Amino acid sequence: MFNRLTAPARALALALPLALPQAAMANEAAIGARKAQFQLFAFNLGVLGSMAQGRTDYDSGAAQAAADHLYHLTRVANPALWPEGSDNATAANTRALPAIWENLEDFAGRYAALQSGAEAMQAAAGTDLASLQGALGALGGACGACHDSYRAPAP
Ligand code: HEC
Repeated sequence: MFNRLTAPARALALALPLALPQAAMANEAAIGARKAQFQLFAFNLGVLGSMAQGRTDYDSGAAQAAADHLYHLTRVANPALWPEGSDNATAANTRALPAIWENLEDFAGRYAALQSGAEAMQAAAGTDLASLQGALGALGGACGACHDSYRAPAP
């Protein structure tokens, strides 16, 4: 199959892995992985937010499942997803501001607030709609507070 590539295509295929230095490739993988984690946060938060706002009917089992998922997803606090040089001034395809690496302790504190919010939601979501609604402010607020300081606006 490789032999069927035209000469220019073959040259390009061989050159591609050399186009990015090793560290940049590692950072690209970390950026992709942390974005995937955030997407899973957003999916599960969306289930809860939709019930809280009455766009879908409250369903205790589905609410508890989303809250359980968020709880476990937020236990993953992996510094390896945030390597030096993976900020948006240095790397492509990221909205992570350089301020993160200048304030790592504060950034970790914002993440800890998210973990607490997810824990409170896990205790509340399956009880009833009012309990879910009561826990949503702190949880969603933890997302927003970190984004305000450390995420660049969408392009
Ligand atoms: C500790 C800080 C912090 C917290 C807490 C946080 N985020 Fe983020 N979030 C970020 C940063 C920084 C980015 C940019 C990541 C990147 O582009 O590399 C981001 C990116 C995202 C993205 C875009 C992902 C993509 O594919 O580009 C979504 C969606 C998101 N966050 C949702 C959430 C939700 C929902 C919560 C709360 C349940 C949350 N985040 C909590 C810092 C945070």
